[in-house]
Amino acid sequence: VAIIMDGNGRWARARGRPRTTGHLAGARTVRRTVEAAARLGVGALTLYAFSGDNWRRPSAEVEALMRIFRRYLAGEVSRCVENGIGLTVIGRRDRLPTVLVGAIEAAERETAGGRRMRLRIALDYSARDAILRAAGGASADGALTREGFAERLAAASHDEGSSPDVDLLIRTGGEKRLSDFLLWECAYAELHFTPRLWPDFSAGDLEDALRVFARRDRRFGGLSSAVAG
Ligand code: IPE
Ligand code: IPE
Ligand code: MG
Repeated sequence: VAIIMDGNGRWARARGRPRTTGHLAGARTVRRTVEAAARLGVGALTLYAFSGDNWRRPSAEVEALMRIFRRYLAGEVSRCVENGIGLTVIGRRDRLPTVLVGAIEAAERETAGGRRMRLRIALDYSARDAILRAAGGASADGALTREGFAERLAAASHDEGSSPDVDLLIRTGGEKRLSDFLLWECAYAELHFTPRLWPDFSAGDLEDALRVFARRDRRFGGLSSAVAG
C-alpha cells in the first residue's frame, strides 16, 4: 500500500490556521495510519511525505516540515520497535539537513529488526529522478530484466532489496494525480482517490480502501478468473 498524504494545507486553512498546523496534524495521522496498517496486515506501507518538487514552497514551510520529520522520526522509533515495524526512508539525502539525515540513519538502524511491516517514508522523493538514476549505467550491464531494474531502482532511492510493486495507491485531498510518486512501481496499482483531507484520514478510511481493493478484479492484462474459468 502506498499513500499520497495530501490536503494538510487546506485542512489548516479551513480552520484559519497556518499551513504548519496542518502538517503537525498530518504527522499525528501518520502515527495512527501506521498502527492501523500493521494491525490490518499490510506488509509494506509507503508514505509520500515530501516530494522533490516540494522544495518550491516558501522556505519557512520547508523548514517547518524538516523539523516535523526529524521530531517524528525521533519520537516514533521506540513505537516502531515495539510494533515490529522496520522503517526506512526513500529518496535523496544530499539536500536534507544534516541533523535530519542523522535521525533517518538512527531510525533505520534501530528499527532494522522489524519484520511485521515494512514502513517506507518518501522524503525528497521523485520517481522520475529515481528512474533516471537507476537507468544511468544500466546499459553497461547488457540486457536488463524488470526484476534487475527494480533492484537498481531500490538502490537509487536508498532502499534495500527490490522496489516492490504497489497493489493499492491511496491519495487523500481530492486530487487525481500521481505527482511523481512511484511511477514504475504503480504499473498495475489499483488507484483509490478520496476527498478526505490527510489530517482527517482515519483507520476506518484505510479499512474502507482495503475493502474496496479486495473486491477489485485484477487482470494484469489477462482475463478475469471468472471468465477464464
Ligand atoms: C501534503 O499537504 C503535505 C506535503 C506536500 C508536504 P499539502 O501541504 O500539499 O496540502 P494542500 O494540498 O496544500 O492542502
Ligand atoms: C504531493 O502533494 C506530495 C506529497 C503529498 C508529499 P503536492 O501537494 O505536492 O502535489 P501537487 O503539487 O498538488 O501535485
Ligand atoms: Mg498538496
